[in-house]
Amino acid sequence: MSFPDVRPRRLRRTPALRRLVEETHIAPSELVLPLFLKEGLTEPRAISSLPGVVQHSRESLRKAAHEAVSAGVGGLMLFGVPTNEHKDETGSCGLDPDGILNVGIRDLVAEVGDATVIMSDLCLDEFTSHGHCGVLAPDGSVDNDATLAIYADMAVAQASAGAHMVGPSGMMDGQVGVVRHALDKAGYQDTSILAYSVKYAGAFYGPFREAVESTLKGDRRQYQQDPPNLREALREVDLDVAEGADIVMVKPALAYLDVIAAVHDRVTVPVAAYQVSGEYAMVEAAAANGWIDRDRVIMESLTAIKRAGAQITLTYWATEVAQRLR
Ligand code: PBG
Repeated sequence: MSFPDVRPRRLRRTPALRRLVEETHIAPSELVLPLFLKEGLTEPRAISSLPGVVQHSRESLRKAAHEAVSAGVGGLMLFGVPTNEHKDETGSCGLDPDGILNVGIRDLVAEVGDATVIMSDLCLDEFTSHGHCGVLAPDGSVDNDATLAIYADMAVAQASAGAHMVGPSGMMDGQVGVVRHALDKAGYQDTSILAYSVKYAGAFYGPFREAVESTLKGDRRQYQQDPPNLREALREVDLDVAEGADIVMVKPALAYLDVIAAVHDRVTVPVAAYQVSGEYAMVEAAAANGWIDRDRVIMESLTAIKRAGAQITLTYWATEVAQRLR
């Protein structure tokens, strides 16, 4: 009988040994908290498909921001949810300096602006009456270039509200370049771009639609990517880097770890991933049934996303996890 000369188990024997050889650590500063601000609310309102996440009032938004920053969270990503009567065909309240998203950006900057990175979602779906990420052509398709002109103005409005980083997320061709030029022309050379470069038209965004009260009928397959495709993701990333993206993002996260890894190997800008609403909801639902160990599954998923190559992760658990890591 021969015995192994090499024994990997030796390094797993005690917690101290395991800690010594641990390859992947998560720090609070890598976590970004997405936040929803709903116009006209005086009290935060629960989102049933995202237990623990709320639509904020202006006051509760400031409190949540403060809590996140105290826990050491690296950034806040703000989404604005206007009342239905403010939605229109072109999403004009997204450009309005007094529109809910721009108001929220100013609130966050005033509250915690120096202590974290304030990011804003740059997309029209929360603001359009039809729920698409851009404006519609007469045939009902989303008009890429007409949408770009609006994104340019929206980026400038967000930068002038004080956003440190804008996140174009509509998957229009050329969006990063147009936003970069518009920001530069308006004197916002230092406002950076977190590009949603690789965004799949999958089924993991369901609860988000409730969070932003999306009116979308149909789907986004004509502009978001087809889940089977990886090479196409690299093409999107190459374009966004060439157009001036400061950070590139892959979304969703856990079902696309191979994509995160391939993007990480490809580019030298930081890579982010978005652990989206459906990923969160699945874990919370299973945990509520007592089927999984919630806290361990959360850490295991975030570790997997980091190990795959994402240096930054957007997650609805950001504050909780940052508190736990402290
Ligand atoms: C677009 C946007 C969406 C999400 C973030 N930005 C919706 C979509 O692409 O359909 C989804 C995030 C999530 O599901 O948590 N503004």
